[in-house]
Amino acid sequence: MEVIITKDYDEMSKAAADVIAEQILRKPNAVLGLATGGTPVGTYKELIRRHKEGKLDFSKIVTFNLDEYLGLPTTHDQSYHYFMYDNLFSHVNINPQNVHVPSGTAVNVEEFCEWYEDEIDKAGGIDLQLLGIGGDGHIAFNEPGSSLGSRTRMKTLTEETIEDNARFFDKREDVPRFAITMGVGTILEAKKLLLVANGEKKAETVAKFIEGPITSQVTASALQLHPHAIVILDEGAASKLEHADYYKWVYAQKPKAMELLHG
Ligand code: F6R
Repeated sequence: MEVIITKDYDEMSKAAADVIAEQILRKPNAVLGLATGGTPVGTYKELIRRHKEGKLDFSKIVTFNLDEYLGLPTTHDQSYHYFMYDNLFSHVNINPQNVHVPSGTAVNVEEFCEWYEDEIDKAGGIDLQLLGIGGDGHIAFNEPGSSLGSRTRMKTLTEETIEDNARFFDKREDVPRFAITMGVGTILEAKKLLLVANGEKKAETVAKFIEGPITSQVTASALQLHPHAIVILDEGAASKLEHADYYKWVYAQKPKAMELLHG
């Protein structure tokens, strides 16, 4: 796992946008896995800025979102579908036919989840998956106890997640209790993973998933199993890492390491 510690939220967002932009430039028809939530908003803003400057073309990009609340139609301003158009898709030249967000109103949820997995396969798999992390250590909505081999399915949200996400709704009771989410196993099949986290509130969870044991109680810890996972943090989120100095040292040596590897 490559751990990059940045100064603040802005720097974290720019560093994450660098990784995504590099993927788009290298493969203009790349398949991107995308996340919602507060954390990636700055990353999306930076990608939009680069697109408006003519540096990023999304016309052939295909996207798959991690999750969606069950019960919310796409027009609901707290649906993840709405979030994605509001924070990214409406501001770049993406083809809406290439956009996939799980349906919050699927009639047959199990059938829908199978279809979603098939669509990812048909697209050739996800090249780069962007992730955030929940206070309880979840990636996507894989709450504690989710199998590390899980696939796209319905999940019941924890009280902690409902509480965390209540800030986006008028009342706590309005937060849906169920979601459709890619599984940990689905996420691990992406060719590259990029997790972003900021703020001291996440510090303990971040330390657990990077330096603690691999466990279904902290589903983000499954990133330890992935051959190409990048984690970009700000100083706050990194503040409880035991080996922060080592990660900073490794990052400082990166140009030299690249020179040794690639000349
Ligand atoms: C959202 C998602 C969630 C969030 C996580 C962190 O699509 O999959 O796992 O990434 O809950 O949310 P924020 O960024 O709001 O702290």
